[in-house]
Amino acid sequence: MTATTATKLLEQAEHLSSVWARYSDIFVEHGEGAYLYDVEGRRYLDFTCGIGVTNTGHCHPRVVQAIREQAGLLLHGQANIVYHRPMLELVAELRAIAPPELDGFFFSNSGAEAVEGAIKLARQVTGRSDIIAFSGGFHGRTSGALALTSSKGKYREGVAPLPAGIHFAPYAACFRCAVARAAGANSAAISYAAPHTSACCGEPLHQVEHLLHTQTTPENVAAILVEPVLGEGGYVVPPASFLQGLRQICDTYGILLIADEVQSGFGRTGRFFAIEHFGITPDIMIIAKGIASGLPLSGIIARRALMNRWKPGAHGGTYGGNAVACAAAVATIQAMREERLVENAAHQGTVLKQELSHVMGRHPVVGDVRGLGLMVGVELITATGAPDAALTKRTLAACRDRGLLLLNCGPYDNVVRFIPPLIVNEDQIRDAVRIFAEALAS
Ligand SMILES: Cc1ncc(COP(=O)(O)O)c(C=O)c1O
Repeated sequence: MTATTATKLLEQAEHLSSVWARYSDIFVEHGEGAYLYDVEGRRYLDFTCGIGVTNTGHCHPRVVQAIREQAGLLLHGQANIVYHRPMLELVAELRAIAPPELDGFFFSNSGAEAVEGAIKLARQVTGRSDIIAFSGGFHGRTSGALALTSSKGKYREGVAPLPAGIHFAPYAACFRCAVARAAGANSAAISYAAPHTSACCGEPLHQVEHLLHTQTTPENVAAILVEPVLGEGGYVVPPASFLQGLRQICDTYGILLIADEVQSGFGRTGRFFAIEHFGITPDIMIIAKGIASGLPLSGIIARRALMNRWKPGAHGGTYGGNAVACAAAVATIQAMREERLVENAAHQGTVLKQELSHVMGRHPVVGDVRGLGLMVGVELITATGAPDAALTKRTLAACRDRGLLLLNCGPYDNVVRFIPPLIVNEDQIRDAVRIFAEALAS
């Protein structure tokens, strides 16, 4: 694209809604692997993956080819009206990677839409009204998904009333857990060691039990909805006993456990799904983002016996399970398997955390390094240990100036998230950490 065309086109950006809070003004022209290229040919190492979507890297050739082929055959085969090959192939691929018990599938377009569907499914099949979600959780921007979201107050501002029947319990976040601090635990050690094997102090589970007997009753609760690794809320890895305890609570009271794997799924954490780290199987799993390398697709997975209690017509959508998106998803999963991208995510994640822990050793503003696989968060703090959003903002801008794209998250905007594509190599990891350390120092 010529500079004149780019400048002219950019005038249209003035007409885009201000509701898209902007991270950058980069005008991107194309992407390849771990890199984005802007219209002036400047290269950026993309450790955002379009918010955890392009897990196979930008424009993975196998995915692009599958999209091209499918586009020439059939763009839209509406799910109520016909079966199409990519959707059926996708079911076969998903059955090979999802927990075997979860063998019923529904497809939609976005994460929020799948969350809405999962909640409707849980309410309609149990006949119960209430849902328990977790503070710091993010499940999307539609009204139903927003009612379940509490990662930032501003998302909920000015849109009341939201659907009722939602109760929030605290998530097991060791770094800021009062009980862990009172016990004198070293926050970095808690998070960096092997958080998924460590035991929770039990307080968050007590809070869930308490909530179940105070704000509602167990008989009224349809589902507990949880992110196996808290995403937008700050990249928090809970102890395994927290998720296992939730499973037990659900079993005790006949409540459905819903795992929102929208951000943590598709190899991101070094396993196909994050729940695999914790030894639990949910009743319902929600998937999106990484499933189709960038094409809009999401899904709900549940036991067929449960899924088939959902009455025909109780839910649906025109585009869900779009043929081209499904073809992209099939190619995505095949590429992940054949190129061992999930294993690469586990390996590179270890390298990334090691490198970042060295940065933590040199920079006291790094309060915590945590994560699983290539879903890694770095919490930036002030000298008194308070969240440092201003430093985080400056650091992200300095990284961008140096050709590295990163995002932040967390209720205080002070967690830098490292979510590179799963094809990333060690050189790129070291490059990114070097730039991050330079940016911090600057
Ligand atoms: C855990 C989780 N659930 C749901 C969503 C909503 O997905 P979408 O933005 O596709 O609606 C997100 C998006 O970031 C997410 O991280």
